[in-house]
Amino acid sequence: MNIQDYNRRAWNKAVERGSQWSIPVTSAEVDAARRGDWRIIFTPEKAAPRDWFPAEMAGVDILCLAGGGGQQGPILAAAGANVTVFDNSEAQLARDREVAARDGLAIHTVQGDMADLSVFADASFDCIVHPVSNLFVPHVRPVWREAYRVLRPGGVLLAGFMNPAFYLFDAELAEAGNYVVTYKLPYSDLASLPPAVRERYAKDLQPLEFGHTLTDQIGGQIDAGFVITGFYEDRWPDQYLSEYMDAYIATRALKLAS
Ligand SMILES: C[S@@+](CC[C@H](N)C(=O)[O-])C[C@H]1O[C@@H](n2cnc3c(N)ncnc32)[C@H](O)[C@@H]1O
Repeated sequence: MNIQDYNRRAWNKAVERGSQWSIPVTSAEVDAARRGDWRIIFTPEKAAPRDWFPAEMAGVDILCLAGGGGQQGPILAAAGANVTVFDNSEAQLARDREVAARDGLAIHTVQGDMADLSVFADASFDCIVHPVSNLFVPHVRPVWREAYRVLRPGGVLLAGFMNPAFYLFDAELAEAGNYVVTYKLPYSDLASLPPAVRERYAKDLQPLEFGHTLTDQIGGQIDAGFVITGFYEDRWPDQYLSEYMDAYIATRALKLAS
């Protein structure tokens, strides 16, 4: 199966369904960002520390990697950055273009797979903002390698991703408060789910998910050449497990200036 194409269609559908991650920021938030009052989340709730970003945002080249939906891109553009939003879903990218047209922002949108950034030259960006989205690709290490390549020396990768423990449980039972350890890690909707459940998800065009190990998430960034300089955890209160643990991780990773 072509996972990239399936998840493209699934995310286009999610936009139609009004996913929380497809609802653009308001003009009031954009105006505030223009005045220097802005915050960005790339996990469900906690804002990234301001000092994770370059001190001066004007003219900084930022890539929102798998970050469509009209959320991070417009705020960063209003804060003064030159923003490129890269995403697999045309409907998600359309959200960023809608906000750009509505609020008079310059945002460049590019469609593609986060594991293949060959459309960008080496050392094209000062900062990459990568909200929780690598759960939608089967292999995460190519994403880190490509991120490293397209960053300039001294650039930073700000990434959100899932703690793989989230995928240990039968999700439908866990949503009802019944935590049954069911799956081995690393998790994959394709390989781990019973075929009948997988078919039900596919019929409903639900995005396919993959629970990468922390070795691939954090070790993978280090192996790509990054130095991890920041870390926090976060939770999504609407989601199962949130009363027990933070299931989301954020890292700040630096490409050394050498
Ligand atoms: C949860 S949304 C993240 C964006 C959102 N603005 C946020 O704050 O979380 C996940 C995004 O990943 C994108 N995506 C899924 N698979 C992708 C792939 N292979 N390459 C690039 N983007 C992908 C989806 O289209 C979607 O926009």
